[in-house]
Amino acid sequence: MGLTSLVSAVRSQVLGSLARRFAGDGPYAGLALLPDRILWPLHRDGLDPVERMAEIRGREPVSKLPVPFGIRAWLVTGDDATREVLGSLDGFSNDFGKFAGKVGIKISADPGGLGFADPPDHTRLRRMLTPEFTMRRLSRLQPRIEAIVADRLDALGAAGAPADLWHEWALPIPALTICELLGVPYADREYFEKVSMSRFDMGAGAHAPLDAVSESLNYLDGLIKEQRRTPGDGLLGALIRTHGDAIDDRELAGLADGVLTGGLETSASMLALGALALMEDPAMAAQLRAGENVDAIVDELLRYLTVVQVAFPRVAIRDLEIGGVPIRTGDVVICSLSGANRDQQVGADPERIDPARLPGRSHLAFGYGVHRCIGAELAKMELRTAFPALVRRFPDLRMAVDPAELQFRRASIVFGMDSLPVHTV
Ligand code: HEM
Repeated sequence: MGLTSLVSAVRSQVLGSLARRFAGDGPYAGLALLPDRILWPLHRDGLDPVERMAEIRGREPVSKLPVPFGIRAWLVTGDDATREVLGSLDGFSNDFGKFAGKVGIKISADPGGLGFADPPDHTRLRRMLTPEFTMRRLSRLQPRIEAIVADRLDALGAAGAPADLWHEWALPIPALTICELLGVPYADREYFEKVSMSRFDMGAGAHAPLDAVSESLNYLDGLIKEQRRTPGDGLLGALIRTHGDAIDDRELAGLADGVLTGGLETSASMLALGALALMEDPAMAAQLRAGENVDAIVDELLRYLTVVQVAFPRVAIRDLEIGGVPIRTGDVVICSLSGANRDQQVGADPERIDPARLPGRSHLAFGYGVHRCIGAELAKMELRTAFPALVRRFPDLRMAVDPAELQFRRASIVFGMDSLPVHTV
């Protein structure tokens, strides 16, 4: 997702456009930080969206976002309006490169990937990936995920007191899973963790995410050249064997980057924040320990935590109305998934974790419409395996610091933390 390529999953979305505006050698070069009046939808109060989110959603579910430099931008916080935007087939474009060029933003490298592509390119590329994400194909990863989780629980138990659940458990589980899926050497994991994380962080200024995108693409380029010669067993090798002639290296790098970074920090944050929620709710942990309501608990945690806080920016390609608000061609629309997932539409008391809620429709943590997360089932496999295993292995798991001392990321598209100190015994 980074400002340009989001290559992966969710990344640079919305605010990426703005960061690009501030990056490069254009007139706004040097503006290091994006202003809080734009970034506030990424802020949280503990695990919750800030109070302002509920106020704005109640008053104006489609509201103006005060973006400078002549860009007209809208923040969508309501469930219905979000589905309208993300489900629209002919009203919006994800092709930020095209938009950026029109408003004079210079993009040095277009990283490709699904998140920034429109049909028919998006349809063609997504079809290449879909067979690798069917339940049948993914089920072959289940024993591997179980082994990875068990191994990381050993590491967490051996890490001393306190142990860092983020580093020992939450981050390595998806990193190892994705390396396995893609056929990327595990030895390169730390490098990927670094570039994947910095591309989502809008609080560190505009250049860091852009640099991270190019770094990741450079790395993948080398790997692809190697696999063109000798295709490996993973997804990358399968794509080259099946579609090698129909896809160029740049598109392939964009797809791989999307999978790699889209599936890493997102799932890691869900694991860490979900573990935190379980430590605070012993009754829910007990249900998981007994193997009860596992699917419902995982889905409710996905909704409640909504780690991908905003969808990729959409650009209106015709005049239209969303929730009764006129949107003009060229307007940028940012959907707050964390806002929409706390709308009353999801059922009674949306600010509370309640696995028993039976919403009339599903949550928006994986997005909606043609860009809905391609890795949703894989992510759920990881969470359904990891949470019950964690609470079974460490029934006395508890935080090693006062919850008020936990440091959450302040303005990252993917909400999360960089460490979670715990006692396992
Ligand atoms: C809990 C974990 C995850 C969450 C919360 C999540 C969330 C999302 C969301 C919200 C979108 C849609 C963004 C939009 O419409 O603008 C998305 C797209 C995407 N995700 Fe995920 N994701 C997760 C895990 C994964 C995994 C494990 C993978 C791959 C292995 C993955 C790969 C992708 C890709 C490639 C896209 C772009 C799809 C498209 O544009 O067609 N994600 N994700």
